[in-house]
Amino acid sequence: RPESIVLGIESSCDETGVGLVGLHADGSVELLADAVASSVEQHARFGGVVPEVASRAHLESMVPMVRKAFADAGLRLSDVDAIAVTAGPGLAGALLVGVSAAKAYAAALDRPLYGVNHLAGHVAVDTLEHGPLPSPSLALLVSGGHTQLLLVEDVASSITELGSTIDDAAGEAYDKVARLLELPYPGGPPIDAAARRGDPRAIAFPRGLTGPKDARHDFSFSGLKTAVARWVEQRQAAGEPVPVDDVAASFQEAVADVLTAKAVRAAQDHGVRTMVISGGVAANSRLGELAASRCAAAGIELRVPRPRLCTDNGAMIAALGARLLAAGAPPSPPDFGADPALPV
Ligand code: KG4
Ligand code: ZN
Repeated sequence: RPESIVLGIESSCDETGVGLVGLHADGSVELLADAVASSVEQHARFGGVVPEVASRAHLESMVPMVRKAFADAGLRLSDVDAIAVTAGPGLAGALLVGVSAAKAYAAALDRPLYGVNHLAGHVAVDTLEHGPLPSPSLALLVSGGHTQLLLVEDVASSITELGSTIDDAAGEAYDKVARLLELPYPGGPPIDAAARRGDPRAIAFPRGLTGPKDARHDFSFSGLKTAVARWVEQRQAAGEPVPVDDVAASFQEAVADVLTAKAVRAAQDHGVRTMVISGGVAANSRLGELAASRCAAAGIELRVPRPRLCTDNGAMIAALGARLLAAGAPPSPPDFGADPALPV
């Protein structure tokens, strides 16, 4: 039996996530429940997340997901010892729904409340699968909203951003290229599937920010997206069919190549021997393959949580809350707010 139970609430984008994590006396954590409702289908016809629609969906799904998580874990609200909620970064209105709900539960139950960083949550979730994170570790976060390289000394208190995208997030590039290829939203899964049928060497798409001058570990994907758009337009203008599978494979190869090359270089620059890849794009088949071979060649241990934990969920926030509780961190002040641009 866990010594403490932590409730985690996530609502920064289009997933309403409620997780329950058990914290054992030896500091280990255990996943007890992970209830997620997504409004992704309501955004599909817009080709991206509509903030107002996401906020309304959170409001409707929050209490049902809390009930589901407790029912799944066989626990009662009064069993909770601490609560953690995503305070940012994310969509302002969406964050407010989760923060308001968490404040209400914390006040009603008289339990400490931690307002936490969503990006740190994406890293902390790995502890539910692979145990404590060695210090330092490197995290590559790749999703529809973020693309970041983080140096993690302590997931609860010390994370340094080594680089991030200067334009589009990796998942955003997938979603935009899918649209160009007339594939459904979100674009990651259909491009991944098409890419497996295509030739990754068919078209030489550009690799952004991989020159020797790029000292910071930043990423750029808008040039790649534009190159794909131009290539497709030229084909169409010439009245030729677009080889969707080859375009998808060549695009996917460019993304996976840049992400893994830069992540491994960052790890080597900082003498790090453990790499975590998290976020929705971590489910990408080519990224996984290339990361595995390049990390093995560089003597780096690769950790990729299962796909369900890589996408936004409440368990990742509860896992981070459990670390804060274990460290004896002070709870957030009662007037803390949601910060759409919260830094790590
Ligand atoms: O983490 P996530 O569920 O939500 C946030 O953006 O926070 O990530 C969603 C993103 C979308 O852009 C989606 O296209 C991408 O992850 N994605 C993938 C794959 N599965 C999902 N991208 C590439 N390959 C995949 N297999
Ligand atoms: Zn996320």
